[in-house]
Amino acid sequence: MLIDSFNRQVNYLRISVTERCNFRCQYCMPEKPFSWVPKEKILSFEALFSFVKVCIDEGINKVRITGGEPLLREDLHTFIAMICDYKSDIDLAMTTNGYLLEQHAQKLKDAGLQRINISIDTLQPEVARKITQKEVLKEVLLGVDAALQVGLKVKINMVPMKGLNEHEILDILEYCKARDMSVRFIEYMENVHAQVDISGMKSKELLAVIGSKYAFTDEGFDGHSPSHYYRLDDGYVFGIIEPYNDDFCVTCNRIRLTAEGLLIPCLYFDEAMSIKEAVGQGNIAEAARILKEVVRTKPEKNRWGDSEGEISKRAFYETGG
Ligand code: 5AD
Ligand code: SF4
Repeated sequence: MLIDSFNRQVNYLRISVTERCNFRCQYCMPEKPFSWVPKEKILSFEALFSFVKVCIDEGINKVRITGGEPLLREDLHTFIAMICDYKSDIDLAMTTNGYLLEQHAQKLKDAGLQRINISIDTLQPEVARKITQKEVLKEVLLGVDAALQVGLKVKINMVPMKGLNEHEILDILEYCKARDMSVRFIEYMENVHAQVDISGMKSKELLAVIGSKYAFTDEGFDGHSPSHYYRLDDGYVFGIIEPYNDDFCVTCNRIRLTAEGLLIPCLYFDEAMSIKEAVGQGNIAEAARILKEVVRTKPEKNRWGDSEGEISKRAFYETGG
């Protein structure tokens, strides 16, 4: 079992299989980075998998594949199959922007994927163009339909932003409700890579919008999920992710691995250790040592709620958010 120095059990690994993305979301990657990590520096699926095995053997039982956009990695389903074949009861999920999902949904499901999170910030083509700086909405919505059709459990992520998509909170809630998908509204997290003039919305403001049409009750938190849950009168449950909240980090159970092999203890901070060499040499003992060291150095909390704190330098497209 992996326990950090604040007595939190770490059982959740998020793997960013590529930092590359085909969208340019204003809150994440408004401009193409000066240079991408060269292909030869990216760990192969075999190398990533050899580390995943170490993690599973040490107590990780939940894995999420993220990016960048994970579906830009060719034959991603083969990586998913490797993990599922190793531990069939693993809780394995993926986060995607949905653009390439229509053509990949069946393969992913057949490989063993169970759950998928898709980012939908708007249902209006012109707003989608503004947020992602690309013509994307039609493909994304087809991707959602395909995921549902093949039997994946779908969750939608929305980042509400003032002056951009704030008028669509209820539309997105209703779109999800109609399809029996849960939705999570994510408070925009400041980071130095995002567009400077974005103004996110806090939980209170979101709830005021939802409360203008629906009555709801506060369901609190559930296990280690970072979502604060609320229930509408008809039973539909939605979540809000509140990283600015003071006790957001108390139940944190996760570490992150980048495509280059950096193991990161916290999304907010720059600290990381590379597992690349250990994995390249097949040195399982060393990979396990690094894993334990990164878990040991997990900081107590992020600094998003701290007005004195610097803005995080971590790019979400490297760490998978
Ligand atoms: N703030 C909040 N959420 C973000 N994401 C990416 N960047 C940010 C940010 N700055 C989330 C998006 C997307 C997921 C991959 O990460 O909601 O769904
Ligand atoms: Fe790409 Fe996702 Fe970042 Fe948007 S939020 S730029 S889709 S990685």
